[in-house]
Amino acid sequence: MAKKLRIGVIFGGRSGEHEVSVRSAGAVIQAIDASKYEVVPIAITKEGNWLAPAAAADLLPDKTRRLLSSRSRSGGDEDVTILGDPSRRGLVRLDTNGGPAEPLDVIFPVLHGTYGEDGTIQGLLEMAAVPFVGCGTLASACGMDKAIMKALFKGAGLPICNFIWFLRSEWERAGEKVLRRVIRQIGFPAFVKPVNLGSSVGISKATDRASLSRAIELAGRYDRKIMVEEAIDGRELECAVIGNDKPQASLPGEYVVHDEAARFLDYAEKYSSTGHVEFVVPARVSKVVTKRIQKMAVTAYQAIDGSGFSRVDFFLRPDGQLLVNEINTIPGLTDVSGFPKMWEATGVPFARVIDQLIEFAIERHRERARNETSI
Ligand SMILES: Nc1ncnc2c1ncn2[C@@H]1O[C@H](COP(=O)(O)OP(=O)(O)O)[C@@H](O)[C@H]1O
Ligand SMILES: [Mg+2]
Repeated sequence: MAKKLRIGVIFGGRSGEHEVSVRSAGAVIQAIDASKYEVVPIAITKEGNWLAPAAAADLLPDKTRRLLSSRSRSGGDEDVTILGDPSRRGLVRLDTNGGPAEPLDVIFPVLHGTYGEDGTIQGLLEMAAVPFVGCGTLASACGMDKAIMKALFKGAGLPICNFIWFLRSEWERAGEKVLRRVIRQIGFPAFVKPVNLGSSVGISKATDRASLSRAIELAGRYDRKIMVEEAIDGRELECAVIGNDKPQASLPGEYVVHDEAARFLDYAEKYSSTGHVEFVVPARVSKVVTKRIQKMAVTAYQAIDGSGFSRVDFFLRPDGQLLVNEINTIPGLTDVSGFPKMWEATGVPFARVIDQLIEFAIERHRERARNETSI
């Protein structure tokens, strides 16, 4: 029997989406093919501490923890980290002069938001020269910053909504001027958001000057860059993409709103079963619209130089116009998330998706290693 690949699953992290990441990691560990892979759980606390594999497993949902401990070993109990030194591949023990603790074949960062999806940990993994799942540093950083992402989408000819962004310091210095500019260029209703965040945290709708001011204050609590967009009245669709140089798109899915009280898809609506919204896949659109979504999803992915996987989100206006809303370079992978469901509906079970993601990680690593480094 071939040796099992050791997969380090990193989860938790220093972000508002810590809990979602734990749930996503639980779902990945639950679905991964245990006959091919050995999972080493690696947790990062909200404060940014890296936990020993044994302590990391304790953070996982009960079901996943039991599953891990039933499979051979669940890792040591010494503190570990990853060093940006290719000769110390994998996890390194902190208390034994940096000796190797856990050689890892591939790392799967199942982290959402800041310090996980934004290129920071990807930079560390690139320095360490360990193959890892998902987008590299540049694509991750571009996919995290909504202003940069939209500039790239625009450059690729993708339709997007009107937006402007400004610095929090600008708002604090010259709030009146900022308000006038927003009202002139965007108007009402508008969506105000932190440029670098996810899961709808810090996002609110503004309908007049006073609510705009409050919305900017709120967004400014989460980021130094604040974005205001025209509010789009449309259906919300998503499409999953996987691959490196030849990305493939899944069938699209759709959030169907049953209760208009769910003003927009906020954190609670996305991650709990409130019954206000339902994720339907395939989305109820024609074959032609499906094809257009898939093509636009691949274009968006290539615009940020994506690799591994991503999820691209759209608005579909009543007149049929499609707009790209955003790309998520580490999409939610929980049991209620769109990404696994869309692949399932496309005929690829989640375990097979994970297989492919691991293959893409290794392929991308080899492709990079081909580059000459001496001149
Ligand atoms: N311009 C907009 N028009 C209408 N709804 C919006 C707009 N921007 C965001 N929303 C709503 O807020 C949700 C979260 O916004 P999004 O830009 O996707 O940020 P996040 O990264 O937090 O998911 C969207 O799914 C949608 O329901
Ligand atoms: Mg979103």
